[in-house]
Amino acid sequence: MAFLLTNSVAVAGHEKTIKLLNEGASSLDAIESGIRLVESDPEVRWVGFGGLPNMLGKVQLDAGIIDGSNMHAGAVGAISGYAHPISVARRMMDELPHVLLVGEGAERFAHDINAERSDNLTDISVAEWKEWLDEHLNESEKKNWPDISLIRPSQLTATNKTAKGTTVFLAIDNNGNISAGSSTSGWSFKYPGRLGDSPAIGSGIYADNRYGAAACTGMGELTIRSNTAHSVILYLKMKMSLKEACLEALNDLRNVQTDFRGGVSIYAMDKNGEYCVVSARSEQDGLPECDPYFWYWNGVDPSVKKINADMHEW
Ligand code: GLY
Repeated sequence: MAFLLTNSVAVAGHEKTIKLLNEGASSLDAIESGIRLVESDPEVRWVGFGGLPNMLGKVQLDAGIIDGSNMHAGAVGAISGYAHPISVARRMMDELPHVLLVGEGAERFAHDINAERSDNLTDISVAEWKEWLDEHLNESEKKNWPDISLIRPSQLTATNKTAKGTTVFLAIDNNGNISAGSSTSGWSFKYPGRLGDSPAIGSGIYADNRYGAAACTGMGELTIRSNTAHSVILYLKMKMSLKEACLEALNDLRNVQTDFRGGVSIYAMDKNGEYCVVSARSEQDGLPECDPYFWYWNGVDPSVKKINADMHEW
């Protein structure tokens, strides 16, 4: 039996992913196809086309995918000019002896495979970026832009409004193979070259057929430092229940010391298709900076269910 667990912004990819799973496709193919559709959705402002740019106004995308049947994984970081980083990551996993390519190298590989090109920057994103610069740069920075140090303005991007945004898909196919994938434009107005947790295998995504799969959204700096997705799987291996495993990974995150603590959501599915999603939020800005709900399909019901996440304060 097949299963699918996705985060709140993944709706555009549900129908295709479920159709493929119903037709007997592998979970890897199914989630790649679903994530591509989220990457193309301009309404999702933190993934692919329409994603918010880095501090210099360039959209730099991250994506990763892992096959739980053999732990083959592929990821790209800070890639610009291509429509589907998830597919570049997938092809890289299939065709190179590497796991992670970034920047120029990722773009070179995307060119080698003739990947679909896209600038990904929309007029709305440019307007938001300019508005942010106008509000946050001082007069000297405005006058000398872009020949300034980006350190001070980058510190001002550590807010719940900006430090978030990803799509994650976890699926089990009819053969019991479990996969996880993630794609993002990352922290809005980030320092150029910043990578989040989406391409960090073990932090933003992990899958192992023997136990299950996990993925994270929210502030990647926290989950990278705690290796959250892999921790959930390790706690399952240590015989914790799915909920205990997620709560233990959340506790680990609480121990990561940081000046700014954005929200994080952890999505997990065990090898039997049971799910658990926990979200931790802070009060800053009063914004819902982590996912308050998620989507789950159990392979039998005709529709995907919208379910509230288990919410926690930091
Ligand atoms: N979780 C997405 C990021 O930190 O970029």
